[in-house]
Amino acid sequence: LGIITVLSLVLAPIAQALTVGFSQIGSESGWRTAETQSIKSVAQQRGITLKFSDAQQKQENQIKAIRSFIAQRVDAIILAPVVETGWDQVLREAKRAHIPVFLVDRGVKVRDSNLYVTKIASDFVEEGRLAGAWLAGKTSGHCKIVELQGTVGSSAAIDRKKGFANIIDLFPRMSIIRSQSGDFTRSGGKNVMESFLKSENGGKTICAVYSHNDDMALGAIQAIQEAGLKPSKDILIISIDGVPDIFKAMMDGQTNATIELKSALGEPAFDAIKDYLAGKKLPKWIKTQGDLYLPDTAKAQYESRTAM
Ligand code: AHR
Repeated sequence: LGIITVLSLVLAPIAQALTVGFSQIGSESGWRTAETQSIKSVAQQRGITLKFSDAQQKQENQIKAIRSFIAQRVDAIILAPVVETGWDQVLREAKRAHIPVFLVDRGVKVRDSNLYVTKIASDFVEEGRLAGAWLAGKTSGHCKIVELQGTVGSSAAIDRKKGFANIIDLFPRMSIIRSQSGDFTRSGGKNVMESFLKSENGGKTICAVYSHNDDMALGAIQAIQEAGLKPSKDILIISIDGVPDIFKAMMDGQTNATIELKSALGEPAFDAIKDYLAGKKLPKWIKTQGDLYLPDTAKAQYESRTAM
């Protein structure tokens, strides 16, 4: 037997014995559902027992789930934190119980960064900057923007707002004229966009929508159409995630651009847990990358993401 085979035979029972608790935010968007799917299926492929908890967008439910994982003495906890603050106490409890915590997708603000091992996530500020740069180029730095924000207090909403503002602040003729949270949901995006359209002369004064995720952009597209305007033409739209539905909307000429947020976090998350438990030192932030996509590649992207 080769050395690799011998090693995998020796290590396989160790991996199989792992029990990991996963506190997920909820199922607010297509992206979130894909992320859940990735973590569940990689756990299954690797023979890891996954204890899954859906917090229905509530931090208090995530705190309860973490306490229950601690009581069950899991080997590690994966946390996708709904908001940035308010985690110190429960993460201290996990640390005291010697249970390592791995953040996926969103970040936390804690006094002691040793309360978690690492964060596996993209750079939300960069995503916001990329969106701002694309819009500045597309409009030659001349645009009145409405912003659909994600969940209030989430790192995704805070940082995407910040990164976008970093860029448009460089252009005196670009400004955000309305900004409100649609909570990362399709219905939230639609409702907020309807109110923006009403207060902005039926949409005539709006040049573009910057949406913190694709689902809210899809809701906004519906609201724009119902107001008798053409999304992507009368009002430009840029959003973040790269879910199949946004590529479909792009193929249909209803939106202009999306920035991909990788949802396949199962592999890097379980790799990080395995490496940590094997005694390896991990960086504090394991960054995932995403590109900007435009209509020219929408069909190919849609097909590759929906192929079974
Ligand atoms: O935290 C990432 C964001 O959360 C995704 O962009 C959004 O779709 C999800 O709900």
